[in-house]
Amino acid sequence: MSNWPEIEKKYFMPVFKRQPIVLVRGEGVRVWDENGKGYIDFVGGWAVNCLGHAHPVIVNALREQGSKLIQVSNQFYTIPQLELAELLVRNSCLERVFFGNSGAEANEGAFKLARKYGRMHLNGAYEVITVSGSFHGRTIAAIAATGQHKFQNPFVPLPDGFINVDYDSIAAIKSATTKLTCAVMLEPIQGESGVNIPNKAYFKQVREWCNEHGLLFILDEIQTGVGRTGTMFAYEQLGIEPDIMTIAKGLGGGVPIGAVMTKERASVFAQGEHGSTFGGNPLACAVGYAVIKYILENRILENVREVGGYLMASLNRLKSEFGFITEVRGRGFLCAMQFDRETGDEVVASCNELGLLVNRVKPNALRFMPPLITTKAEVDEAIAILRKALARVR
Ligand SMILES: Cc1ncc(COP(=O)(O)O)c(C=O)c1O
Repeated sequence: MSNWPEIEKKYFMPVFKRQPIVLVRGEGVRVWDENGKGYIDFVGGWAVNCLGHAHPVIVNALREQGSKLIQVSNQFYTIPQLELAELLVRNSCLERVFFGNSGAEANEGAFKLARKYGRMHLNGAYEVITVSGSFHGRTIAAIAATGQHKFQNPFVPLPDGFINVDYDSIAAIKSATTKLTCAVMLEPIQGESGVNIPNKAYFKQVREWCNEHGLLFILDEIQTGVGRTGTMFAYEQLGIEPDIMTIAKGLGGGVPIGAVMTKERASVFAQGEHGSTFGGNPLACAVGYAVIKYILENRILENVREVGGYLMASLNRLKSEFGFITEVRGRGFLCAMQFDRETGDEVVASCNELGLLVNRVKPNALRFMPPLITTKAEVDEAIAILRKALARVR
């Protein structure tokens, strides 16, 4: 058998902190490694595999569309692209769509829209206010927007025009707003920095501030969108509507696709001002269409709310059993467990050994992002493993 970690060490850029597992197959919420060992997958492709692994709806869409038309060019109309655009608009508060291939690329589209909007309507204003602890992707503009120095420092100088301010503080946004500001960009829940949920009033206050000053409110729903928090989009739970929303991850159920969506007034690109070779290709869009339709027609959002609540209750039960768990937080199937010590790696290693995949989102916290189809019985199995792993580090 090949030694894949050795091959990785020799040929691949050393950017990923890998777990010592080589995955080869998946079905539903389970995956198997090259030795045939099975795991319950609560990483879910990093909040991507919303219908789990090898779901027949996704496999059939791939097979059917793959045998018809995979890629042409955006010089031509293609039906899956337009069907998916219509479905997303009909099931959101946004009115226009552009497809790319990833989250970071969707955010790049949002930054460009904000700048163009500033040029058209705000005397050339170009600054986007973002917040500390945010994560918006790995392109050079997305790391400038990301409010975490560790992603920025090796790559300075970063593009101008991104102002990072304190999280969960309307006062910080107000004091950073100048005549150069064109937009405010937030995540409904900060996934990458540990499932941080701000004060609910915050989003309404930001919405009002943006309205008063004519600024665009951009929501990065790349992690929270497509059902992850129990509604199709998290903004539905915040009592506000964004002017621009970015999505990716769950949209293709594992096939790469991202989208920037806008209200009509924020849809300011003219012909030739944005584009993508692969973005909106028939294959990815046919899968995206199948995924969204399946979520809408099969009570998947109800499942996320019900089983997500059950997961939170189960995690809270563990909190009452283990004194070193300081907090459990989350919405739907985006949850975290915080420890009073930096024991995340140890718990993950034990979970791996016992057959559960979880993400160590911070040295002292775990994150759970199971497929949206996960059942209570699968949660029970995962919790039983987690309990054993926690008992080992007690
Ligand atoms: C909120 C948020 N924005 C943007 C991104 C970047 O997405 P991608 O890795 O697809 O470029 C992520 C990825 O984790 C994310 O969670």
